[in-house]
Amino acid sequence: MIKIAPSILSADFAALGDEIAKVEPVADLLHVDVMDGHFVPNLTIGPVVVEAMRRRTQLPLDVHLMIQHPDRHIAAFAKAGATSLTVHAEVCPHLHRTLQQIRELGVKAGVALNPSTSLHAVEQVLDEVDLVLVLSVNPGFSGQSFIPFVLKKVEEMRRWLKDASSHPELEVDGGIKLDNCRDIARAGASILVAGSAIFGTPDPRAAVMEMREQLQ
Ligand code: DX5
Ligand code: ZN
Repeated sequence: MIKIAPSILSADFAALGDEIAKVEPVADLLHVDVMDGHFVPNLTIGPVVVEAMRRRTQLPLDVHLMIQHPDRHIAAFAKAGATSLTVHAEVCPHLHRTLQQIRELGVKAGVALNPSTSLHAVEQVLDEVDLVLVLSVNPGFSGQSFIPFVLKKVEEMRRWLKDASSHPELEVDGGIKLDNCRDIARAGASILVAGSAIFGTPDPRAAVMEMREQLQ
């Protein structure tokens, strides 16, 4: 069954515990967007917030690192209680080593690709990852529109993953709404991240349930 990961980037940060409680009974995991103002233009949160979330919920914390030097921070995020740590292929010259280091910390290892990055950037490491994250917006902000050509990338990555020994999840992130979630699932996604489509609505729990209905 396809998993839904609400992205807290669209939540009310002044009431984060309450926002988590709203989706906790219906979400499969919580997506946490970490931004450094270098790799992406925005700044968000660090390990202290992940640690506070870990104390608040049992849900897996799916931490998406949109940062220039992930190697410097993976240990801190692992200690804070991240369930998975996803690094961008674009900023990892030694991607294989970085992914191994994440796994050595006892955390699931993910690799992410911007919309304009070729799937070939991760071709050699597919047996070493628990998750491939295909960005369907240029990362940095929630509330952007899904970039249509990414659908073909998702289809192709799904074909590639059939042979990957570690059977990674295929996560798609950005611009996912009620009206396109089925197409993205059909293309082969196993996890859908949604920010504004969930926390941008008056009833985030109902929004998750509605998305799940669409996916049936
Ligand atoms: C984009 C982030 C996403 C973002 C998605 O930079 O990686 O996780 O929160 O937000 P929506 O669903 O509103 O595009
Ligand atoms: Zn994200």
